Amino acid sequence: MATLELKNIRKTYLTEEIIKGISLSIENQEFVVFVGPSGCGKSTLLRMIAGLEDITSGDLLIDGQRVNDVEPGKRGLAMVFQSYALYPHMNVYKNMEFGLKLAGMPEAERRQKIEHVARTLQLEPYLNHKPGQLSGGQRQRVAIGRAIVRNPKVFLFDEPLSNLDAALRGQMRVELSALHRKLGATTIYVTHDQVEAMTMADKIVVLQKGVVEQIGSPLELYHHPRNLFVAKFIGSPPMNFFSAIFQDGNAEGSTVQLRDGTVMHVPVAPPGILPGTKLTLGIRPEHLELAAPGPNSGIVEVIERLGATTLVHVRLEDGQVVVVQTDGFTDIEVETRVSLTLPPQYCHLFAPDGLAFEACRRHPLAA
Ligand SMILES: Nc1ncnc2c1ncn2[C@@H]1O[C@H](COP(=O)(O)OP(=O)(O)O)[C@@H](O)[C@H]1O
Ligand SMILES: [Mg+2]
Repeated sequence: MATLELKNIRKTYLTEEIIKGISLSIENQEFVVFVGPSGCGKSTLLRMIAGLEDITSGDLLIDGQRVNDVEPGKRGLAMVFQSYALYPHMNVYKNMEFGLKLAGMPEAERRQKIEHVARTLQLEPYLNHKPGQLSGGQRQRVAIGRAIVRNPKVFLFDEPLSNLDAALRGQMRVELSALHRKLGATTIYVTHDQVEAMTMADKIVVLQKGVVEQIGSPLELYHHPRNLFVAKFIGSPPMNFFSAIFQDGNAEGSTVQLRDGTVMHVPVAPPGILPGTKLTLGIRPEHLELAAPGPNSGIVEVIERLGATTLVHVRLEDGQVVVVQTDGFTDIEVETRVSLTLPPQYCHLFAPDGLAFEACRRHPLAA
């Protein structure tokens, strides 16, 4: 059983503030992912939770107890690093045993634990191998096994899959999710990869430049991004954006004009803004529809066939390229003239400060 609470956590290196006041709660058994671009402070925040970095100010609570000054080994956490950090001269068994020995666990108990975890992670055939004789995926499993044998209250992962090839990353994502269900330990997982965040998290924390941009379930973030940053970061291929001018609105929605003159009514109530305000309209590739030439027309420039779906890149009259995701069997060809239909119920509107208009239409899975 472990809950965590971060209260206005800050980190300053010399004069630069890297983590700028982060507050969040992590529930027992929750799988929380910190996601954001490289350099946004994910590792720093995780290392502060682990006790590997001092917390400049704010409070860190584990199970309600303030642990800012508790040394790393006494916080009940285990961390898995991107680099694996295995001892190269020790075999797999000894790598997993090392921490247990230090903690003074009797030999028979150590053996039982290690054998059990090796079975869970399919590492039994490799217990006598040294890390150099293992593949990347196997090394990563050893690093995870070394964390599991310690029976921590909380698992901390820092980009554990980033050194693996795409196929193995996909497989390890599934294994980690299954392992989490089995162990039921509170987990904090750091990654720059929004796919890992979307597929594994109960709760995603999107970070940028040391601040939290949004906290929510994967589908909440996908369907109701709080601002342009989250809208751009979550989703692949990313959301398309159009310039728009606000005309008027009420509680039912907003009327906007696109650059080519099309007027649309989007069922999202506006914040207090004036007619003429420049907005950004966002729509995901799977919500755009291709139609015979009409408004919003352009030329098909590239077609990416992924099998189940097809990504059609369309260059609009103004030079902007948008991506439409359509079915795998579309017979569309490059250099065809097409037009885009934007179903208003799927459109997001963002004010000049980047904040999303309040969403009127809630996705049933993300309500
Ligand atoms: N020991 C340090 N001293 C000074 N600056 C640091 C130190 N560690 C990290 N930083 C800076 O803090 C910022 C966040 O780094 P980091 O937490 O590693 O980002 P992320 O893990 O999101 O890529 C970066 O700008 C990095 O250069
Ligand atoms: Mg990092």
